[in-house]
Amino acid sequence: MKTRRHSLHRLAGAALAGLALLGAAAARADGGTVKIGVILPMTGQQASTGREVEAGIKLWMAQHGNKAGGKTVEIVLRDDATVPDTTRRLAQELVVNDKVAVLAGFGITPAAMATAPIATKSQTPMVVMAAATSSITEASPFIVRTSFTLPQVSVSIADWAAKNKIRKVVSLVSDYGPGNDAEKYFADRFTLDGGTVVEKLRTPLRSPDFAPVLQKVRDDAPDALFVFLPSGQGAQFMKQFAERGLDKAGIRLIATGDVTDDDQLDQMGDVALGVVTAHHYSAAHPSAMNQKFVAAFEAANKFRPNFMAVGGYDGMHLIYDALNATHGAGGQKLLDAMKGQVFESPRGPILIDAQTRDIVQDVYIRRVERVKGQLYNVEFETIASVKDPGKSK
Ligand code: DHB
Repeated sequence: MKTRRHSLHRLAGAALAGLALLGAAAARADGGTVKIGVILPMTGQQASTGREVEAGIKLWMAQHGNKAGGKTVEIVLRDDATVPDTTRRLAQELVVNDKVAVLAGFGITPAAMATAPIATKSQTPMVVMAAATSSITEASPFIVRTSFTLPQVSVSIADWAAKNKIRKVVSLVSDYGPGNDAEKYFADRFTLDGGTVVEKLRTPLRSPDFAPVLQKVRDDAPDALFVFLPSGQGAQFMKQFAERGLDKAGIRLIATGDVTDDDQLDQMGDVALGVVTAHHYSAAHPSAMNQKFVAAFEAANKFRPNFMAVGGYDGMHLIYDALNATHGAGGQKLLDAMKGQVFESPRGPILIDAQTRDIVQDVYIRRVERVKGQLYNVEFETIASVKDPGKSK
């Protein structure tokens, strides 16, 4: 009798344990956690990119909660300190140890390039939120981009320059991937439009000094100087541009919007007034969605969102929509759900091209103006639905 009761007890115990196991499995099926491994330069030269992208990610989650596809979304943020070998090591650890479903972030092109083989090998969707060299999306079939490409904006400013009596241009770019794209796509289009690029100048990515190249620009006396520099270098460039007196020498400044970056623009002072740029995002974009986005972002952060913040915010939108569509599946299914997505962003309408996995978006021509006491890139022309020109060859 005693023994029997004992075994009944054991049976009941086993049944309970079984139920508990079933419960855990059910929790995994309709709950559980999906991890997103975000690698950004939170320290080092490109730290402003990390700060802006992270703030964009956080704002998305503050507004939309931490559930997608029936799972709890967990961000695992890692700082690569702008060192691509570190990005690669962190990506490997995030995939193998943390078992992340998505890799995201990537402040500079070399960081994205270093991670691409890991995304391919582990079949992990990789959302590039910041880096912008055209060829990045070709480095892995698992890469999807929510930032922009340098060819998109460089051909747009070349067309505007040619239509606005600018004939002779000197170009100045940062000497790495996105600078190569900006220099080439600007020159090819501007030449096709009948203009001439009389000199092509470059400065190093790390700790550039603009004084020597600006002296050359002065001597060349072009109608305009076309510039691409990565986010975070614009303020120092504008300071040296003014110190050399180029703003008073009758040489117009045209650029990609990275140079009049919203993160720094208001500190640049009057030298920035009138600078014309092409880009996909301005904090002054007049849509209702953007006005709400900027107000919420500034309330949360005490700084202005720039194009990097929007890349992070839209990257989360893309990931949430894909998780919802696949009920939380990962790998190839999740990647496929990202392809062809269309939605309204604070920047305007965007599409993830299903073939190239790259972003298609409106590009705006903007002029720096003072609005209610602060400097902004005020959009005055729109080139609709620009595909990456780097993909058509
Ligand atoms: C890249 C980095 C930037 O900060 C930027 O504004 C554009 C491109 C890059 O490394 O791809």
